[in-house]
Amino acid sequence: MHLHKYERYWLIFGGASLVIFLLITGIMAFHYGSHPPSAKKTINYEQVEQIAPFNKPGVHKVSGKDWDYEVVLVASAFYYNPPELKVPVGSKVKFIITSKDVVHGFEITGTNVNMMAEPGYISEYTTTVDKAGDYLIVCSEYCGVGHAQMHSMLRVVDSK
Ligand code: CUA
Repeated sequence: MHLHKYERYWLIFGGASLVIFLLITGIMAFHYGSHPPSAKKTINYEQVEQIAPFNKPGVHKVSGKDWDYEVVLVASAFYYNPPELKVPVGSKVKFIITSKDVVHGFEITGTNVNMMAEPGYISEYTTTVDKAGDYLIVCSEYCGVGHAQMHSMLRVVDSK
C-alpha cells in the first residue's frame, strides 16, 4: 500500500498525540492521584437529618486528622444548610455534602472546588483555604425553578 508522505506524517502525528494524551492522563491519575471528587459513601437520603454527620450541619473543628475543619452541608431544593460558613484562613477544610432530594451542585466561586451533591451519596473534598475573603457557594447543577437562587456563603476570616 502506498501512503502519501503527508498522509504518513499526519498518521504519525495523530498516533503520537493519542499516546501523549493517554500518558498524561495515566500519569496524573496513577502517579499524582488526581481524581475527580468521588462519592463512594452512601446514605439513606430520606433520613439525612438523623444520620451523622448530617444531623449537625455546620463547621466543626477536628483534631487528630489530616485536616483542621469539617464542613458538613446538606443541599436541598433550593437552599443549603447552613446558609453561611466561617473558617479561619490557612486551615485545611474537608467539605462533606449530600442532598436530601435531587442532584444539586456545590461550587465555591473563585476556587477549583466543584462537586455534585447527589441524593443517596456523600461527596467529600479536602482543600486548604489560603486566601481570606467571602466566597459565594452556588448550585452548579440545574435542580428546578429555584436553582438560580440556591446559594451559601463561605467566609474565610483572619482570626482563629
Ligand atoms: Cu440546587 Cu441547582
